[in-house]
Amino acid sequence: MTEILILYYSRGGSVAQLARQIARGVEEGGATARLRTVPPVAPVTESAAPPVPEDGAPYVEKRDLAECDGLILGSPTRFGNMAAPLKHFIDTLGAEWVSGTLVGKPAAVFTSTATQHGGQESTLLSMLVPLMHHGMLVVGIPFTEPALNTTRTGGTPYGASHVAGAKDDAPLSDEEKQLARALGKRLAQTAEKLRR
Ligand SMILES: Cc1cc2nc3c(=O)[nH]c(=O)nc-3n(C[C@H](O)[C@H](O)[C@H](O)COP(=O)(O)O)c2cc1C
Repeated sequence: MTEILILYYSRGGSVAQLARQIARGVEEGGATARLRTVPPVAPVTESAAPPVPEDGAPYVEKRDLAECDGLILGSPTRFGNMAAPLKHFIDTLGAEWVSGTLVGKPAAVFTSTATQHGGQESTLLSMLVPLMHHGMLVVGIPFTEPALNTTRTGGTPYGASHVAGAKDDAPLSDEEKQLARALGKRLAQTAEKLRR
């Protein structure tokens, strides 16, 4: 069975909401979704994070990367870029880069921002850069998805997205849900074709 790793960081829950919609799309595309997260990081560590998160998805392990047929990476936007905990994990992937663990596998990205023009596209594009160093094949959202032409909230050709508002509490719009599911489905179907 084709397996897609949905790896994300979410502090307030908005990126996690998108991850769940993407997982639905992955399953509509005939694949299994494996949801994983990364621990927070701090400049000075006073205590280690618990070995498993208190709730939500388990922490990612390196074997998740080897075992997946495709990867969807999600992060809140922080100053127009991905959040440090996710980048911190990516920066530990030297051995996987050398051995080509992710080469030829399809990849997609998603994000959430407070504001409409707060840097979704710069975040999504910059998240793709390390994935391309790892030899992954980029999958976006085509404009043949009707919601991409009509959305007044999130959703971009570079990846799925959500505009969460200043309090980070806006629910996902219908278009954001549709586009997140479409991305998950497309990634799953692409991974299935590439496995053959
Ligand atoms: C340090 C920091 C930087 C942020 N930078 C941006 C930004 O550049 N643009 C924006 O629109 N929102 C920004 N935000 C808001 C988050 O992107 C937004 O609340 C997002 O929905 C959080 O996702 P989460 O609920 O999954 O943690 C920032 C938040 C923090 C804490």
